[in-house]
Amino acid sequence: MSGELVLAAKTREMNLAQINTAVAIRNLSYTYANGDRPALKDVQGEIAAGEFVAVLGAGGAGKSTLCYALDGLIPHFFRGEYLGEVLIQGRPVSGQSVAKLAPEVGLVMQDFEAQLFSTNVELEMAFGPENLQLSRPVIGERIGRFLSAVGLERMRRRDPASLSGGEKQRLAIGSVLTLEPKVLVMDEPTTDLDPEGPTDPGAGRNAEGPAADPDPDGCRYRIRRSGRPDLAF
Ligand SMILES: Nc1ncnc2c1ncn2[C@@H]1O[C@H](COP(=O)(O)OP(=O)(O)OP(=O)(O)O)[C@@H](O)[C@H]1O
Ligand SMILES: [Mg+2]
Repeated sequence: MSGELVLAAKTREMNLAQINTAVAIRNLSYTYANGDRPALKDVQGEIAAGEFVAVLGAGGAGKSTLCYALDGLIPHFFRGEYLGEVLIQGRPVSGQSVAKLAPEVGLVMQDFEAQLFSTNVELEMAFGPENLQLSRPVIGERIGRFLSAVGLERMRRRDPASLSGGEKQRLAIGSVLTLEPKVLVMDEPTTDLDPEGPTDPGAGRNAEGPAADPDPDGCRYRIRRSGRPDLAF
């Protein structure tokens, strides 16, 4: 398992040939500026709109790096050697700013606590849509809908720092959902949730990360760090 990434895709009764490609990863290799070897090497894959994909791999296999490459932190924030390309809805990530990508790709980071910086839960949920300059009624509706989706309706006025680990993780997921991103990327999003927690908050969207039990029989791609992926239908 070490040094290997596996993309496990569950497709909901869809004819892939008829579905738009939401994410395309083409010969992606990436070496951090201070890295002595590639964190990602020749990764390839396509994710259709509506598909739910889990990326599996040992510690250090490159899962978080792949998440950064999907939402544009790589190559726009992290410096390094970037080869190949990632396309979101057909447009290269490298050619768009992180701000422009924000409504396209939402990322719940592995270090989700680092994502929380507001003084109460409601403000945290409002931050993304306010930056998109949405109207107050739309922002209010999204806050209510997604607080309910992550089960934090009764904690609107709480300081995020006072929440439990699982509640903070729910808030981080909720605050990304308020952007209603077309592609939802979640990096180990269930680490602090109880067994009832991982209820697929991104249902109906695309996702990277084990938000639900990955089913090895549903594996569509098996991506190794070196070499080409094996198709595993
Ligand atoms: N900012 C960085 N600078 C240099 N190297 C980095 C940086 N971030 C990650 N790496 C290296 O890139 C490789 C992949 O790391 P990454 O964090 O993507 O792995 P991961 O699969 O998410 O691991 P984990 O399961 O432990 O979260 C590792 O060898 C790591 O040391
Ligand atoms: Mg990681």
